[in-house]
Amino acid sequence: MAESLTITDNRTGKHYEVPIQDGAIRAIDLRQIKVAPDEFGLMTYDPAFMNTAACKSRITYIDGDRGALLYRGYPIEQLAEQSDFLETAYLILFGELPQQKQYDDWTREVTLHTMLHTNIAKLMEGFRHDAHPMGMFISTVGALSTFYPDAKEIFSPESRRLQTLRLIAKVPSIAAYAFRHSIGRPFNQPDNDLTYAGNFLSMLFRMTELKYQPSPVLERAMEVLFILHADHEQNCSTSTMRAIGSSHADPYSALTGAAAALYGPLHGGANEAVLRMLHEIGSINNIPAFIKRVKSGEGRLMGFGHRIYKSYDPRAKIIKKMADLVFDVTGKSPLLEMALELERIALEDEYFVSRRLYPNVDFYSGLIYQAMGLPVDMFPVLFAIPRTAGWIAQWEEMLNDPEQKIIRPRQIYQGYGPRNYVSRDRRP
Ligand code: CMC
Repeated sequence: MAESLTITDNRTGKHYEVPIQDGAIRAIDLRQIKVAPDEFGLMTYDPAFMNTAACKSRITYIDGDRGALLYRGYPIEQLAEQSDFLETAYLILFGELPQQKQYDDWTREVTLHTMLHTNIAKLMEGFRHDAHPMGMFISTVGALSTFYPDAKEIFSPESRRLQTLRLIAKVPSIAAYAFRHSIGRPFNQPDNDLTYAGNFLSMLFRMTELKYQPSPVLERAMEVLFILHADHEQNCSTSTMRAIGSSHADPYSALTGAAAALYGPLHGGANEAVLRMLHEIGSINNIPAFIKRVKSGEGRLMGFGHRIYKSYDPRAKIIKKMADLVFDVTGKSPLLEMALELERIALEDEYFVSRRLYPNVDFYSGLIYQAMGLPVDMFPVLFAIPRTAGWIAQWEEMLNDPEQKIIRPRQIYQGYGPRNYVSRDRRP
């Protein structure tokens, strides 16, 4: 027997059967519930979409209680251990791991698009010397839509594939240009002999040497960080990508909005907040007093807690292991000891245990980025590079979903009813 929910309307005494499918009822089924026939019908009210599924998806699965994250069914731990970013991006975008030839073609095709149009470089030179790299990144991705007007052909699979290649290939180049601009150094051209992460490190750090040789440990660490950040289902930036895409805007414009959503400190900016917090605490001796303040409601332990994970964020576990390897190469961050001690105390403390607050992805990632020589204002940009794969995959899934339309939430209007215009000289 099909599952359903019986609702009794106390206002009318009427009963309604609302089908339950995939653990959800359709909000539109509630519209039939009304007192008078000319009424609009019952709506759901869900600020911040705390309990509303806005789509069906086959891309990423999160089990917040168990601390599990799967891309297309593959556990994040296995991908971080055995895959590389371009292979993982292929999996997220096209649904399956590539066979060798598909992988080789995909990698080659991406490298064919890594260069930026010279006018993009000119555009980026126009930013002030102290422009925030994420502001430069967002504006430049938006500008790409003027360079590739063919991106408007959103219902052409060939066009979508071309824009996908361009975006995956160009976001590291834009990110590196933004960094080089902010430190007043000339832009480095991409080196297509290197891996995706190796080329990114070369564009960031190459100086006068003819060939940049990335440290294999740092190259792998960047690759793994990219894999861990590639998608995270319907978060704020991904929902923005889908929302803008639902009006059939081109993918560069939609991705600009997604990146802007990521920019906020509640989303892509938390790893920066972790570093600021560690600096503020200053020394291990100050940790007990800091924890006491957090418990009394004065501030939060940044990098702890998650809306979905009520267990150790699986990405944080992987990053923590990676941090040890990176610090062997770069030297230990003086902040690491403090982070480890904070984690040790918090994981034993009743306050954090009872609220199920565990380290999230941002607790250790900032320490790694900093050890690699990247400033905190680059952190959201580093997040946006791999998340581009997730954003495009989610955008395409939305376009191909016959149930999706332009998004248009309802509101509960609480303002004035109709009233007459009053001329300026007669206003109170
Ligand atoms: N430190 C101290 N107390 C906390 C923390 C924290 N980091 N996070 C939650 N709490 C407490 C909170 O005060 C509340 O306690 P009480 O029930 O006594 O009022 C309880 O735990 C539940 O918190 P909430 O704010 O209702 O939980 P939420 O799901 O709305 O918030 C969060 C999730 C991630 C915004 C929050 O845990 C937080 O602010 N963490 C610190 C910031 C951070 O690390 N953000 C990165 C998130 S992962 C990256 C991403 O996905 O973008």
